[in-house]
Amino acid sequence: MTEPGGDTSSVFQLLYSSHSRIPRPDRPTVLAEIFSTARSHNKGAEITGALLITDHYFVQVLEGVQDAVEGLYARIGEDPRHEQLTILETRTVDARVFPHWSMAQVSSVGHADIPLHVTQGVIAPKSPQHLTTEQRNLLTTMRNAIGADTV
Ligand SMILES: Cc1cc2nc3c(=O)[nH]c(=O)nc-3n(C[C@H](O)[C@H](O)[C@H](O)COP(=O)(O)O)c2cc1C
Repeated sequence: MTEPGGDTSSVFQLLYSSHSRIPRPDRPTVLAEIFSTARSHNKGAEITGALLITDHYFVQVLEGVQDAVEGLYARIGEDPRHEQLTILETRTVDARVFPHWSMAQVSSVGHADIPLHVTQGVIAPKSPQHLTTEQRNLLTTMRNAIGADTV
């Protein structure tokens, strides 16, 4: 049986950013809906990844079989809850960076799987010791993609 993240074949990774269209008061409810859908769908499709949520932007990494990742990205691109989707990077890696998360929530608010804290404009994981070097590097790329937007 293949567990998500348990395969040894190469993994396709897609990183994109987008601009949120979710009105601030609706965010907790809408984000909960997005994560619920994402997690159940991604488990079935053996997709893993992380979604960074900031005040105005999303940055998401999707990893899995290339067809599955590209198919999901096409569907996410149709979603009216965000706009201005921009692919930042696609690459093939030897192993998943977020093998244990069907979609990790990365945020300084709410119940994040990877909580961030912000001090004097610098955004960093609250517990970097719990993350691998690859996870820390990818999170840095994700944070840099949205510049100084508040998380
Ligand atoms: C920022 C963002 C990230 C999303 N991430 C995922 C995801 O990882 N997996 C997923 O299935 N849906 C994700 N969605 C939701 C999809 O866009 C879509 O609503 C959902 O897959 C249901 O698609 P369907 O209506 O075609 O069944 C995301 C939506 C947004 C706005």
